[in-house]
Amino acid sequence: MDKNWILRDLATIWHPFTQALTAPPPIPIVRAKGATLYSETGEAYLDAISSWWVNLHGHAHPVIANAIARQAEILEHVLFGGCTHPQAILYAERLLALLPEYSRVFYSDNGSTAIETALKMVFQASGEAKTLLSFEGAYHGDTFGAMSAAGKTHFNRPFWPYLFEAVSIPPPFFGREEESWVAFERAIRSGRIGAFIFEPLIQGAGGMRLHSDDLLAKMVRTCREKGIFTIADEVMTGFGRTGPLFACSRLGIWPDLLCLSKGITGGFLPLAATLAKEELFNAFISPDPKRAFLHGHTYMGSPLGCAAANASLDLLLLPECEEARGKIEFSHRRVQKEWEGHPKLSRVDVLGTILALEYRVDAASYYNPLKSRLSDFFLSRGILLRPLGNVLYVLPPYCIQEEELEKIYSAISETLEW
Ligand SMILES: Cc1ncc(COP(=O)(O)O)c(C=O)c1O
Repeated sequence: MDKNWILRDLATIWHPFTQALTAPPPIPIVRAKGATLYSETGEAYLDAISSWWVNLHGHAHPVIANAIARQAEILEHVLFGGCTHPQAILYAERLLALLPEYSRVFYSDNGSTAIETALKMVFQASGEAKTLLSFEGAYHGDTFGAMSAAGKTHFNRPFWPYLFEAVSIPPPFFGREEESWVAFERAIRSGRIGAFIFEPLIQGAGGMRLHSDDLLAKMVRTCREKGIFTIADEVMTGFGRTGPLFACSRLGIWPDLLCLSKGITGGFLPLAATLAKEELFNAFISPDPKRAFLHGHTYMGSPLGCAAANASLDLLLLPECEEARGKIEFSHRRVQKEWEGHPKLSRVDVLGTILALEYRVDAASYYNPLKSRLSDFFLSRGILLRPLGNVLYVLPPYCIQEEELEKIYSAISETLEW
């Protein structure tokens, strides 16, 4: 039966970022609980990457599952143009209470659409065709605006001719802040920059690389002084991944727009939110209907998604959740100390619940063959990890237990003996 699912998948489905000719067949998962995924034949896989960074509290969590079920019996969906509903209002009120610098929530479906929304807000508000500024190696999603914002990267190579222009500067990596600041100042001086977009503190898909919060904060402050919009992409970092609820809280300045998705529903349903300040919202207020923000999505603010988001937020705000995040960070830091300076590794980084290791290789890249060797090895140990080339990261659901983390660390230790 298990095999049957694989054959039926291979006959019908086109998977993302997957070379169908050479990729191993997909792993058919039929149920999940806590941090573990199960195949139909009963193999268990520890989900060490929170199913593409979305799961916060564990799979099939009853609080969220019940909230969705209850909502489905009351109101499953209603159009958001001209209608509203209690779950969306409640969730917006709660988010804004946590993030009081913002006063408006624009819902959409996923990380890319949260970014598209932010870009279109600043483009329409400014009314001038200015350029975006972003960090080299950024990843903001796969729609055209999100790809353009990231600049030309290996993820979007076939689409380069179709992207709009963005200026990419080196991120303020620790030890390389000067290079980044010089490039930033040069870009700002050109007078061409209309908005600055960044993943705060850590670049996710670009290789889980940390950078200086101080210098990033200085860049955001400079943009504010020069009237340049700032957009924080907290699609990965939001909802506690880096320790505090939102990574931008470490900057001491809140960007004009904050994009959230991934963990927003605890990993149950697609939903996203772009948060804006009142000043930006006011730029769209006019007797002229054409000045309204011209953007929307069919399932934006879906009642089911918002019910899941409210339930996930209930769990996130429990003291136990903060404690669980603290414990993960503590464990990560312990192995970081152990592995730092290991000849097989060029870096070991920890930021909140995220642990990242970079293996020394001749040609570091997303396509480095170490990627599949590592993922095959971890699968054979019952662990689901998805290295970014020669960068391995662990980004677990907050419910992960100490023994489960130990199992992951011990498998990683084995790879250091290769
Ligand atoms: C920082 C960041 N922004 C945006 C996205 C795009 O999100 P989605 O895949 O939900 O469109 C991702 C996805 O990995 C991301 O990591």
